[in-house]
Amino acid sequence: MTTRFETITQELSATPRKWLVTGCAGFIGSNLLETLLKLGQTVVGLDNFATGHQRNLDEVQSTVTPEQWARFTFIEGDIRDLDACRRANEGVDFVLHQAALGSVPRSLNDPITTNEVNIGGFLNMLVAARDAKVKSFVYAASSSTYGDHPALPKVEENIGKPLSPYAVTKYVNELYADVFARSYGFETVGLRYFNVFGKRQDPDGAYAAVIPKWTAAMIQGKDVTINGDGETSRDFCFVENAVQANILGAMAAPEARNQVYNVAVSGRSTLNQLFSFLAQALGNQGVNYGKQPVYGDFRAGDVRHSQADIGKASRLLGYAPTHTVLQGLEVAMPWYTQFLR
Ligand SMILES: NC(=O)c1ccc[n+]([C@@H]2O[C@H](COP(=O)([O-])OP(=O)(O)OC[C@H]3O[C@@H](n4cnc5c(N)ncnc54)[C@H](O)[C@@H]3O)[C@@H](O)[C@H]2O)c1
Repeated sequence: MTTRFETITQELSATPRKWLVTGCAGFIGSNLLETLLKLGQTVVGLDNFATGHQRNLDEVQSTVTPEQWARFTFIEGDIRDLDACRRANEGVDFVLHQAALGSVPRSLNDPITTNEVNIGGFLNMLVAARDAKVKSFVYAASSSTYGDHPALPKVEENIGKPLSPYAVTKYVNELYADVFARSYGFETVGLRYFNVFGKRQDPDGAYAAVIPKWTAAMIQGKDVTINGDGETSRDFCFVENAVQANILGAMAAPEARNQVYNVAVSGRSTLNQLFSFLAQALGNQGVNYGKQPVYGDFRAGDVRHSQADIGKASRLLGYAPTHTVLQGLEVAMPWYTQFLR
């Protein structure tokens, strides 16, 4: 049976559109860029390299044909600059807004910059996209919006109080998106990502996410530190699932707009399990990590358990994740072993 995603990608290949991907030099943005260029789309990218890298753009270039790469225009700019947002939105059909400062600990250390980028920059993007009359606007929301709500799995309408400045910014994005629909008839689709992982996710720096951080440590034979008792759990989502959700979101039917959706697999893995999965996936790559993990303190601002109900995205967008956490790790590990050696 043909999936909705297959139908849509065939339609896009037959009638290419112009897309804006903000944060295109980052992890999820560069994966979106790669998929769109391979589908023959025209893409404008906006990034200021705050956490993204030129090497990610170079890698995308190396995976597409010269003709596909010629359909990409890069604007080095900051979403805090309204003029840069306006330039980037010119003549665009679909916006995939990914640019933001991620990481709960970063937001605890520097709430002001996180607020300026994630809320001020988001508002600039909404205004610029509204004025440019783009056809649809999909943005990266976050599972952190569930905050202290205890229920599992997470359903979109039941949220708790935010546990970090980062979570506040992502929730404010949703509020602004909703107000833009009410006030200006400008409708958006918000995607609450749950711990996305895959190639090009940055393993370096103080704010690296758990999978690239542990993978790098294991490849380099260093200690892996688990924050807390290791029973903290997450719904780890392979990046190709997130790419699928973005493309489906951009092409969403009118009744599916002005909504937020969980984007994950609806699985739940503890950090202790993740450690074993990574050791196994790396073992399959010939990297044998003999050490046991080291247990540290719980991390401030972290949600204890997380697992998505993906029924809404499935019903309204036709979202059907193609990779479980284990399948995603098998695809991602060869990239990490090559990148980090
Ligand atoms: N990775 C996850 O698990 C996850 C989970 C929930 C939400 N998100 C959200 O998804 C989006 C993408 O995250 P990612 O994991 O790819 O992170 P990333 O850091 O790899 O990518 C973010 C990109 O945005 C760019 N950027 C940052 N500030 C900017 C600014 N002021 N102007 C222009 N560009 C700017 C960075 O340079 C980077 O290339 C973010 O909005 C993030 O909050 C990610």
